[in-house]
Amino acid sequence: MSCCGDSCSINLGSGYPIPLNLSRGTYIYDQLVRATSGFSEANLLGQGGFGYVYKGVLPEGLEIAVKQLKMDSKQGEKEFQAEVETISRAHHKHLVLLHGYCIFGAERLLVYEFAPNKTLEFHLHGEGQPVLDWAARMKIAVGSGKGLAYLHEDCNPAIIHRDIKASNILLDFGLEAKVSDFGLAKIFDDSITHITTRVVGTFGYLAPDYASSGQLTEKSDVYSYGVVLLELITGRPPITTETESSWKEGLVDWARPLLSQALQDSNFDALVDPRLLSNYNTTEMARMTACAAACVRLSPWLRPQMGQIVQALEGHLSLTDLAERTQSQHSSLCRSSGSSTFDAQKCMDDTKKHNMTWVSQDSGSSRSSSGSTSEYGLNPSNSSGDFQQTS
Ligand SMILES: Nc1ncnc2c1ncn2[C@@H]1O[C@H](COP(=O)(O)OP(=O)(O)O)[C@@H](O)[C@H]1O
Ligand SMILES: [Mg+2]
Repeated sequence: MSCCGDSCSINLGSGYPIPLNLSRGTYIYDQLVRATSGFSEANLLGQGGFGYVYKGVLPEGLEIAVKQLKMDSKQGEKEFQAEVETISRAHHKHLVLLHGYCIFGAERLLVYEFAPNKTLEFHLHGEGQPVLDWAARMKIAVGSGKGLAYLHEDCNPAIIHRDIKASNILLDFGLEAKVSDFGLAKIFDDSITHITTRVVGTFGYLAPDYASSGQLTEKSDVYSYGVVLLELITGRPPITTETESSWKEGLVDWARPLLSQALQDSNFDALVDPRLLSNYNTTEMARMTACAAACVRLSPWLRPQMGQIVQALEGHLSLTDLAERTQSQHSSLCRSSGSSTFDAQKCMDDTKKHNMTWVSQDSGSSRSSSGSTSEYGLNPSNSSGDFQQTS
């Protein structure tokens, strides 16, 4: 039995009603129990901060992934609403497809297309995995970049994902990337410059400006995407548990000076994943390195837009153009930012700093200006979670 009948509807409380009266998008609870063999352990695909995900097969043979949200807190309901509301509005080759959902008493379930080849995190950092070759890394960077660019630039209103990370990039056997996990996503109206929210996300991927102020813009996603690019380049996860390690400060702070140096010298040896054994295309490596350096800039205004990054990765935008466009965009933002909530002075200061350091691609971008990422990890965790209350 299910409450997901043809006439079922829920109020998502956001002004963007979801058409819950479609029989095609709703599933009967028993149908999902059968499809997943009773949510059996054998069918468990993964577990994240907010729920368990099971593989299932529908009677017509369609493979699905069923996300059963943990409903032990208000967060579960919020996650369900965010996920239905955002992903049901977004359809793109590089976004995981939501087939539908089920509401059954207190249960909230989301039914997704099944991504058969695990996550980027698994392929990059999973123990005993064969080395992901350079062509695959490039393909995953471009694919996930396109998915994110679509959310930011083609959806109206735009969608900010808020939890971009390697474990939320699913893959198929052709290594086509699909951005997933929209539980923290926010709809972002054009008429506003940013939203101030409780800071959520994953330690190691959080933009420092967002972590410290709670001010969310699409540039918070751009930063997290930059961390994913760094993982693809270096083969390292965003944080290390080894306290003695040379990069205990985290991947971004470790990589920043090396990125500048590599771009100046066109020598990527100090940065690149040693497991690649120098088997990579240098032009593509330069592109990915320049994009990563631009994405993880401390100032959100100096980070490019996702569409520009995709163009640069594919070689349709020169790295000089990427720099110039970011800068001119930044200047016009500074001119138009008279509001008290948008820090115009900081914006101008950042431009000055940027003008001085552009040649060295963010070289030595002052860590003291907004601190290192680790300072924001009040509750370091590997999974999505709340970091601090800002509003
Ligand atoms: N559509 C899918 N196909 C295959 N595996 C999936 C799918 N969705 C999620 N998973 C697996 O389940 C894990 C957790 O799912 P996710 O949606 O990220 O949930 P959470 O919000 O709890 O992080 C993923 O990291 C992945 O391993
Ligand atoms: Mg996840």
